[in-house]
Amino acid sequence: MQSKYLFIAGSVPLIALDMWHTGAVILWTAKVIIVTYLIVFGLCPLIFHYSYGFQRKILFLNFVHWPPSVDFDKPESVGLQGARNFYLSTNESVKIGAWQILPKSLVNESVKWSEEEFNGALRNPKRPVFLYMHGNSGNRASSHRVELYKVFQELDYQVIAFDYRNYGDSDPAELSEEGVVKDSKFVLQWLMEKVNGTVPVFVWGHSLGTGVSSHSLALLAGDNLQPTGLFLESPFNNMADELSYHPFSQIFKHLPWFHWVIVQPFYGNGLRFESDKHIGDIKCPVMILHAEDDIVIPISLGEKLYQEGLRLHKNDSNQVTMIRINGSLGLGHKYICRYEPLPKIIENFVAKCQSRPRQ
Ligand SMILES: *[C@@H]1O[C@H](CO)[C@@H](O)[C@H](O)[C@H]1NC(C)=O
Ligand SMILES: *[C@@H]1O[C@H](CO)[C@@H](O)[C@H](O)[C@H]1NC(C)=O
Ligand SMILES: *[C@@H]1O[C@H](CO)[C@@H](O)[C@H](O)[C@H]1NC(C)=O
Ligand SMILES: *[C@@H]1O[C@H](CO)[C@@H](O)[C@H](O)[C@H]1NC(C)=O
Ligand SMILES: *[C@@H]1O[C@H](CO)[C@@H](O)[C@H](O)[C@H]1NC(C)=O
Repeated sequence: MQSKYLFIAGSVPLIALDMWHTGAVILWTAKVIIVTYLIVFGLCPLIFHYSYGFQRKILFLNFVHWPPSVDFDKPESVGLQGARNFYLSTNESVKIGAWQILPKSLVNESVKWSEEEFNGALRNPKRPVFLYMHGNSGNRASSHRVELYKVFQELDYQVIAFDYRNYGDSDPAELSEEGVVKDSKFVLQWLMEKVNGTVPVFVWGHSLGTGVSSHSLALLAGDNLQPTGLFLESPFNNMADELSYHPFSQIFKHLPWFHWVIVQPFYGNGLRFESDKHIGDIKCPVMILHAEDDIVIPISLGEKLYQEGLRLHKNDSNQVTMIRINGSLGLGHKYICRYEPLPKIIENFVAKCQSRPRQ
């Protein structure tokens, strides 16, 4: 008996110590959770809010080099036949790296074209020319982009693909919406002067490139200059909506300070890409292509852009059209180039735009 009481009496401080320990663990865990929460939902957003550099990096992803090492001088290294590399210097002295890709009928693997012949193909093309404006990350050699150039080439269209400032081997320069739009506007103007009305010129924008191309064309409309048509592949309506719908934003979206922390600084720093405003200024017909299973830019944003485009053009379905691609095909954000009816869709739109009376 004696020993049992002694044992129990001796256990009391042990149990107390144990409870104290459990309490400390709970407290410590709570602290870690609170601190983590504050860092993830407080500090990170604050840094984001105040760092223009960080916002730009997240938006443009120009530091993602994929493919990692490209020999831009050899378009054939990514499987393009009948293509050459060249450089333009914009009126702001930004060097822009570009590829000229010949239409199929001019490609002969056993013949190497001179620079003069390439220049001739641009001054006197026989078939429509497409100017491609890519999305964020990577460069003009990224594989899904090359896949689309080949679709154009097979349709016997000529292609110009280029990298905005800070992408690929183009010059580093102020990275901003205004900056990439200036580059794009310059390249489009340069191309239209070269082609000089001999054949139609079409612009194709993908993803972030839909924001760049819409803005560029809206500005050019002010100078009374428009290409024959504009394709917008997987577009968004404006940056505010894209930020709210992007998968990365999902864990922050519920925060009451989401708009202040994320959206407002983008707008304050001129990163807006308000295609739903620009589309109203664009004078050439616009074709929107969007896959239902796009998770980077949900089709609802393409739909919003389409509806706003229609509204701004008084419901003129010749001005804005939209093709919705069945999600069961699994084409997602980047692979509309593999949509079987795509070549036919492009040809029909090209024909429709050409038959339209010039404005
Ligand atoms: C470049 O050209 C555009 C017109 O296309 C003009 O608005 C702009 O001021 C020019 N920039 C410089 C630095 O000359
Ligand atoms: C390609 O060029 C070679 C050499 O000039 C010529 O013999 C051949 O017929 C050409 N091939 C085609 C498909 O035009
Ligand atoms: C561009 O086209 C116009 C009208 O057809 C023509 O007068 C002019 O000479 C052409 N410019 C060049 C550089 O070929
Ligand atoms: C355009 O269509 C919508 C819905 O069909 C309609 O509510 C609207 O009044 C139309 N606008 C014009 C300018 O016709
Ligand atoms: C998409 O394709 C699937 C399978 O072919 C079909 O069952 C479905 O009805 C299609 N959806 C639409 C909106 O056409």
